[in-house]
Amino acid sequence: MTPLSPNRDSELVCLADYEALARERLSLLAYEYVSGGASDEVTLRWNEEAFHKIRLRQKILTDVSNLDTRVTLFGETLPYPIVLAPAAYHRLLHRDGELATARGANAVGATLVVSTMATTSVEEIAAVSSAPLWFQLYVQPDRGFTKSLVQRAEDAGCRVLCVTVDTPVIGTRNREMRLQFALPEGLDRPHLRGLEKHGETTHRPREGEIYSSTLDPSLTWKDIEWLLSWARVPVILKGVSHPDDAEKAIKTGVSGIIVSNHGARNLDTVPATIEVLPAVAERVAGRMPVLMDGGIRRGTDVLKAIALGADAVLIGRPYLYGLAVAGAAGVARVVDILRAEFAMAMALTGTTSVASLNASVLW
Ligand code: FNR
Ligand code: LAC
Repeated sequence: MTPLSPNRDSELVCLADYEALARERLSLLAYEYVSGGASDEVTLRWNEEAFHKIRLRQKILTDVSNLDTRVTLFGETLPYPIVLAPAAYHRLLHRDGELATARGANAVGATLVVSTMATTSVEEIAAVSSAPLWFQLYVQPDRGFTKSLVQRAEDAGCRVLCVTVDTPVIGTRNREMRLQFALPEGLDRPHLRGLEKHGETTHRPREGEIYSSTLDPSLTWKDIEWLLSWARVPVILKGVSHPDDAEKAIKTGVSGIIVSNHGARNLDTVPATIEVLPAVAERVAGRMPVLMDGGIRRGTDVLKAIALGADAVLIGRPYLYGLAVAGAAGVARVVDILRAEFAMAMALTGTTSVASLNASVLW
């Protein structure tokens, strides 16, 4: 486990502890931005609650003295199946922002997905990264700009392009609206410089509008075909939640999908991702990797997601709270806690490798 700074950090033993302390330390604006979901936050609650309803089956008297938590995705082997999801504005949470996140990821060998809406450029992040980076793309209305942004990410060494397809517009986010969410002085989005219209400097639309100038509401499967025709790295879609869309993704030629409802931040009352995962995974039937995110807070959640058909999971809010509490060390510690919990859950269910983990661990 990664050493921590002294004092209260040693009392932080689970992901929920990080959230509680982050809430005390963050500005109201930052905490509400990270923790919030869409509308009445029904799906936000479901994303976590749905995991609680799934029961596990303990398996006894199996030799679990050696556990293999590795997983191979898009030609690379990850030490454990947990990836850091793309999230905007890390410098809102910690002075060193994405650089601290990347250093935390380095310490535990975790893959970080850099957001189009990062507050640090992909080149600067890559310069401090020893662990793998992927890049999350919000396709821009200006396709030439989009292409050069992707090429920047490829040139910086990002190994996978993760195209977010669940956000033609952002959702109804009352917490952001109440606080008139804006980035504090001195922070901006280096990947999107030059594109901001109507004084918009974040993902939020102008008052009274629904469209944001740095999201493209006209995005379709045709644009995915266009991206696939020239991208140099595997392209995966983030935000798939229906088996028919998964099938279309395969036909279009993408390399993988992430089953996600954007952390319940866009369309409220869609089902929890862990509820839609089994049907999607069943339809895909091993033809491409299926990742999932949303509501993962315990090692048992990681186990359940893989048992129900995911190849790996991503976490969003938990590592952002780690970043807020203790910078790089906090990010590393959150991942360490989760991967240790996951390994314990494997051992207690008699699972010796991620490759052999299946629905037999479910009650
Ligand atoms: C996000 N998410 C996100 N997704 C994306 O594709 N691009 C982005 O820039 C962001 N930004 C972002 C900011 C914040 C503060 C959060 C909490 C989330 C969604 C993210 O990648 C992921 O899908 C969810 O966070 C997963 O749910 P949990 O783990 O937060 O429950
Ligand atoms: C969010 C956007 C920026 O979820 O992806 O806040």
